[in-house]
Amino acid sequence: MDLSDLSITLVKDAKRRRKPHPDEMGFGVFYSDHMFLMDWHEDRGWHGARIEPYRPLTLDPAAMVLHYAQAAFEGFKAYPTKDGRILLFRPELNLSRMNDSMERICVPRIDEQLVLSAIKELIKIDRDWIPTDRGQSLYIRPTVIATEPHIGVRPAKHYLFYVIMSPVGAYYKEGFSPIKILVEENYVRSAVGGLGGAKAGANYAASLLAAEEARRRGWTQVLWLDATERRYVEEVGTMNIFFMIDNALVTPGLTGSLLPGITRRSVLELASHWGMKTEQRPVTIDEVTQAAEDGRLTEMFGSGTAAIISPVNEFCYKDVPYLLPAPQPGPVAVNLFEMLLAIQNGQQEDPFGWTVEVV
Ligand code: COI
Repeated sequence: MDLSDLSITLVKDAKRRRKPHPDEMGFGVFYSDHMFLMDWHEDRGWHGARIEPYRPLTLDPAAMVLHYAQAAFEGFKAYPTKDGRILLFRPELNLSRMNDSMERICVPRIDEQLVLSAIKELIKIDRDWIPTDRGQSLYIRPTVIATEPHIGVRPAKHYLFYVIMSPVGAYYKEGFSPIKILVEENYVRSAVGGLGGAKAGANYAASLLAAEEARRRGWTQVLWLDATERRYVEEVGTMNIFFMIDNALVTPGLTGSLLPGITRRSVLELASHWGMKTEQRPVTIDEVTQAAEDGRLTEMFGSGTAAIISPVNEFCYKDVPYLLPAPQPGPVAVNLFEMLLAIQNGQQEDPFGWTVEVV
């Protein structure tokens, strides 16, 4: 299959979807007019690449994804520049991670270049869906699901890969204002050897109950600990986590049970470029609480495509709340947030070649 096989059906004007006002954007509430789809069958491989009007899917009730959660996804964004260009931020890393996630759940690989080209076509068709207010963007959600109707447990023989797009603002209602997180002591998200390093839908199902219980107690999110010893900090579930301890930028190393975030990687690369000391290593929750007590923990923030940089000003472990010293967001979070946004929106020269223009 190559891109000359891409068929395009445009939405009829009367069927265009309502575009949100910048103030009602939220995250993942509105969807653009078109979507990309392609199918995989055992005998044909990936085929049927097409852009069509956004619409509900028809699935057999026995479709394997509904029973055994063979589903993976990605998230990246299209950013508007002041001079009317459209930029993507390191999309090749998202598509390569998509293939890694798919491999982990036995879904056949996609052609990353072909899919990226198709996504660029999709963005061009729906370019008037890209919001222009600061901090807003068009979120791109590639997704793969097992569609074969079969209820024996094995990898499916039919898949659907699709891409939908959603104009978004801040992920958390707090925006760039600091959030509060609860260190999770009862539930685990993933163990080493499990699905945690893959962007599989099942990871998010595993996280919901803990997040709901935390939310009811007034915390925005949970900070996961490792499944074996419940000692090592992992990630927040919707973002990776960073600490400023003794003037070093510290984040848990990639053990396989946490997501290898693309914003995480960019934060580490930016901080090193600025000459900051960065450390990817095991981080125990005792080290974090001790550093907080000693005043050596000066900042804590999450990173993610959706969350961008999300400062944390309070966390709770074993019923003890720990407050980060004012002011929060601190200077490191502010500088990273500003720099990422400026590169993504083309306002700052991109010294790393991270942005890809949609032309
Ligand atoms: C992202 O940051 O893109 C994510 O996928 C996190 C969340 C919205 C699931």
